[in-house]
Amino acid sequence: MTIHKTQVGIIGAGPSGLLLAQLLDLQGINAIVLENRSRERVESRLRAGLLEQNTVDVLRQAQAAERLDREGLVHHGVILSYNGRRHPIKFDVGSNSKPKTQNSKPQNTEGSVVTIYGQQEVVKDLIKIRLAAQKPLFFTAEAHKIEGLETGQPSIFFTQNGEEHALQCDFVAGCDGFHGISRKHIPTDIQQIYDKIYPYSWLGVLAKVAPSTDELIYAFHERGFAMHSMRSSEISRLYIQVPNDAKIEEWTDERIWSELQIRLHTEGWTLQKGPILEKSITPMRSFVSEPMQYERLFLAGDAAHIVPPTGAKGMNLAVCDTQNLYEALLSFYKMDDNTLLQNYGQACLSRVWRVQDFSNYMTDMFHLDINKTPFDQQLQKSKFDLLAISDAASRVLAENYVGVASKRASELAL
Ligand code: APR
Ligand code: PHB
Repeated sequence: MTIHKTQVGIIGAGPSGLLLAQLLDLQGINAIVLENRSRERVESRLRAGLLEQNTVDVLRQAQAAERLDREGLVHHGVILSYNGRRHPIKFDVGSNSKPKTQNSKPQNTEGSVVTIYGQQEVVKDLIKIRLAAQKPLFFTAEAHKIEGLETGQPSIFFTQNGEEHALQCDFVAGCDGFHGISRKHIPTDIQQIYDKIYPYSWLGVLAKVAPSTDELIYAFHERGFAMHSMRSSEISRLYIQVPNDAKIEEWTDERIWSELQIRLHTEGWTLQKGPILEKSITPMRSFVSEPMQYERLFLAGDAAHIVPPTGAKGMNLAVCDTQNLYEALLSFYKMDDNTLLQNYGQACLSRVWRVQDFSNYMTDMFHLDINKTPFDQQLQKSKFDLLAISDAASRVLAENYVGVASKRASELAL
């Protein structure tokens, strides 16, 4: 068995693990990142692509935002649609009015906007930086067991190319996503799981066609949810609600475009079509596992919680955890203070629950749920009406959408 040593052992090279490694590296704190997939596989996983202001700020702090700043598409609003009736939410001023001047600061959201930049682009940028700095990042390295969490010197056991390795470290960062092994090392008698599975999935496509809209469109339609997002001036990203048992083969390109056209339709607007480059189906789930820490193990990102993609909060939440964990480790190593480490879970969870509520609200409001009673369907419609008649309601949505509300929630825990 080969023995490795480092300060922070990081399991998982998704956004959480890679960003943590980079932030620590800038402070001279050593880490080894273990990733069970190949570099190609990690870099090609297509995920959401909407970054909150805070996420962009942290990536800048991590000196990993050079390409993001060049290629990211800044958005000052979002369009919500109910059966063809569109309602723009502007981050800049009250939703029913126009920005006062061209350069006016977003007032609804305290200056925050959102940026479109694919999650896998963030991952590619972070991998490139780490490998260029010749810092340890092991691909096809599968962690299978953690021992000694109570001893102050834990070890992560992993296999790579059929060989057994042990990584001895001061702390283990469990950044290994929903299907990872880290969460399983929290004793079940102290673990509380909150879980909700939704009765529908998303079919997502990447298409080689210029976006037909300037702002993202989230649409409720009596045939189900649809969404128009984008990646660049030439690439569109679109989603439609499908049943949980839908098969990708049933969804020909023509059928997808026709369904998108119907569900996103509004008078005087045409959806531009183009070749579909990729398509996949993703189930929807809300999940939280508490506590997020046990002795020397700290969970971050999808390892501890997942949200349905309506609102694109998954990566943004992962970045917030990472930021908290980084600050706690920094305080431990530089100031010999473990208060932030002790409070890590609490600091993350009030934000996690704010985001859970918002993601659940957006999901419930935009999807067709055939199990809903006619009464609940009317309530669903009335939630849209409220956004159209109340600037205050639109502002609440905007604050949650750009991440201002969850930031405040995290301050509550301090
Ligand atoms: N050993 C090593 N690596 C592992 C193991 C293991 N046993 N199990 C999982 N991994 C790796 C996965 O292959 C993946 O690359 O951990 C990584 C976890 O990354 P993500 O799933 O991207 O999770 P996270 O970094 O927390 O980012 C959360 O990513 O999945 C999206 O929707 C999610 O946007 C959210 C964000
Ligand atoms: C995306 O661009 O992939 C995206 C954007 C917003 C969402 C979900 C996905 O809510």
